[in-house]
Amino acid sequence: MSDEASESPAAGDDRSVLTNRQGHQVYDNQNQRTVGPRGPATLENYQFLEKISHFDRERIPERVVHARGFVAYGHFEATGKWGDEPVSRYTRARLFQEPGQRTPVAIRFSTVIGGHDSSEAARDPRGFAVKFYTEDGNWDLVGNNLAVFFIRDALKFPDVIHSLKPDPITFRQEPGRIFDFMSQTPESMHMLVNLFSPRGIPADYRHMQGFGVNTYKWCNMDGETQLVKYTWMPRQGVKSLTAQDAANIQATDTGHASKDLYEAIERGDYPRWDLYVQMMSDDEHPELDWDPLDDTKTWPEQDFEPKLVGTMTLDRNVSDHHNENEQIAFGTGVLVDGLDFSDDKMLVGRTFSYSDTQRYRVGPNYLQLPINSPQRVPVATNQSGGQMSYGRDLGLEQNPHVNYEPSITGGLREGRYQTEDIEGPELTGRLTRARIPRTNDYLQAGQRYRLLEPWEKDDLVLNFCTLISQADRKVQERMLWHFYMCDDELGARVGEGLGIGLAEVKDLGPLASQALTETELARMGNLG
Ligand code: HEM
Repeated sequence: MSDEASESPAAGDDRSVLTNRQGHQVYDNQNQRTVGPRGPATLENYQFLEKISHFDRERIPERVVHARGFVAYGHFEATGKWGDEPVSRYTRARLFQEPGQRTPVAIRFSTVIGGHDSSEAARDPRGFAVKFYTEDGNWDLVGNNLAVFFIRDALKFPDVIHSLKPDPITFRQEPGRIFDFMSQTPESMHMLVNLFSPRGIPADYRHMQGFGVNTYKWCNMDGETQLVKYTWMPRQGVKSLTAQDAANIQATDTGHASKDLYEAIERGDYPRWDLYVQMMSDDEHPELDWDPLDDTKTWPEQDFEPKLVGTMTLDRNVSDHHNENEQIAFGTGVLVDGLDFSDDKMLVGRTFSYSDTQRYRVGPNYLQLPINSPQRVPVATNQSGGQMSYGRDLGLEQNPHVNYEPSITGGLREGRYQTEDIEGPELTGRLTRARIPRTNDYLQAGQRYRLLEPWEKDDLVLNFCTLISQADRKVQERMLWHFYMCDDELGARVGEGLGIGLAEVKDLGPLASQALTETELARMGNLG
C-alpha cells in the first residue's frame, strides 16, 4: 500500500474510488506487487495484469479504407414530400412520410486512403456515411462527396485501393502506381477530374456535399419501384482548398476538419444539409447513352430534377471516440422497408464487404453495440453466442427454450408484410462476365471539366502535370490519350505540361479491355 493511498480520503472528496473490472477497489495504482521494494515482481498480480493486458488490446484493426473519420449526432426532419408530390406516391419508407417527422441520425465523415492518424487535408474522396435510427430499424446511406466513383464493378475494388494506398515496399503513396492503374481504367476519368480539381480537397467536413453515388430503389405501398439517387447539399455552402492551402494547413494540423466540426457543434453553430432525391422509372432506359446503374455517371439535373425530401441537423458530439467512431459500422445492405437495392454491380459487392469486414474488425457481435443497434425497435432474433455476446434478444427473453422457428409451442413468428414477390421488373439473362454495354467513359468527364471555373481548371491541370510526370512515359501517354478523348483543351494543356504532343498519342487506340461507343470512335477519328 502506497503512503498516499494509506491516508484517509480528504474530507469532502466525493470522487468515486478506482476499481478494476471485477469491481475490486484499487488501493495502490502507483506500485505493482513485488517481493521487497526492489523486486522481483510476482505473476499472480491480478490488478497489474488486467490493467496492462487491457491496454495491450486498446486498438482494434483500423478500417481497411476510411480509417480516419469523425462522428456527430443529430436528426433528420422529413418534408413528407418529394418536391410538391406526397412522398408516399413513390416510397412507403416511414421516415419520409410525415412533414416535420424527426429521425435520430449518426454521421461519420472520413478520408479514404490514409491511416487513422493521417492528414484530413489530403487530396482524397471524403466519406459521408449517415445512420438513420428509424422506427423500422436502421437505414445506412453510405456515400461520398464527389458524386461518382473510380470503377463500376466491385471485383476491381481491391485493385483500385491498392493502387491508391502506399507502395508495399516504400510505403509511400506513389503517383506512378496510381496513374498506371487509372490509365488502364477509362471509367475512372470522371472521378479523376473531380478528385484532382479543388473539389478533391474540401475545406472541411461542414462545407461539402454528400452523394449516395450508387443507384437505389424506392418502393411504394402498391409494390411499384423507382430508381433513385441521393444528394446532400450543405446549408453552409461548398468550400474547397487548393493544394497549397492544404499544404499550409497540414503543416501545423492534421485534424483540422474534425476540429472544425467538433467546435461548431460545441458553440451551437449546428451544420445542416438538405437531402434531395433524383428519380427515374425502374427499367434499363435504352434512350440514355449511359446506364442508370453505372456509378461513374451522374444523372443530369435538367432531365432528372433533384427534389427535396428533408433536412439533417447535427447538434451533438460523441462522448467517446473509440466506442462511437472506431466501432460504428455502416453498410449499404442496411435498408428499411420501402427502400431497396438496385442491380448496380458495385452496390452488390459493397453490400457483402461492409458487414464482412465489420465481423472481422469489430467482432461477430458488432451489431449488439449501442452505436450500431437499432434504437427505436426491439431486436428479436434467434441468434446467440459468439465472442463478446451479452444480453439476450427479445425472442430468447420471452421463450428461453425455443431458439428456432417455426415452432408450435412458442418462439418468434415471421412478420406479416411481404411484397418482395411483386416488386420490380422481372429479370432474365445468361450467366456471364461482361462489361455493361453503355460505358461512355469520357462524355461526363469532359462536361465536368468544361463546367470548372478558370482557376479550378488551372489547379486541375497543375495537379495532373505534377503527379503524372512522375509516372512512366507509357503511362503518361495513355493518360494523355484519355484526356484528349474527354476534352481537347484538357488534353492540350496536360500535354503541354508533360511535354508530349497529340501526334505522339493519337494513334494509341482503345485498350484491349475497352469497347468504345460510336461517339467515342468518331471522336478518336477526329483527334488531331
Ligand atoms: C468504408 C468497401 C465503394 C463509401 C468501407 C469499408 C470497406 C469498404 C471494407 C470499411 C468499413 C468498415 O471497416 O467499417 C467498399 C467496396 C466498395 C466500396 C468493396 C466497392 C465495391 C464505396 C463507394 C463509396 C464508399 C462507391 C461511396 C459512395 C464508404 C464510406 C466508408 C467506407 C463512406 C466509411 C464508413 C464509415 O465511416 O465507417 N468501404 N467500398 N465505398 N466506404 Fe466503401
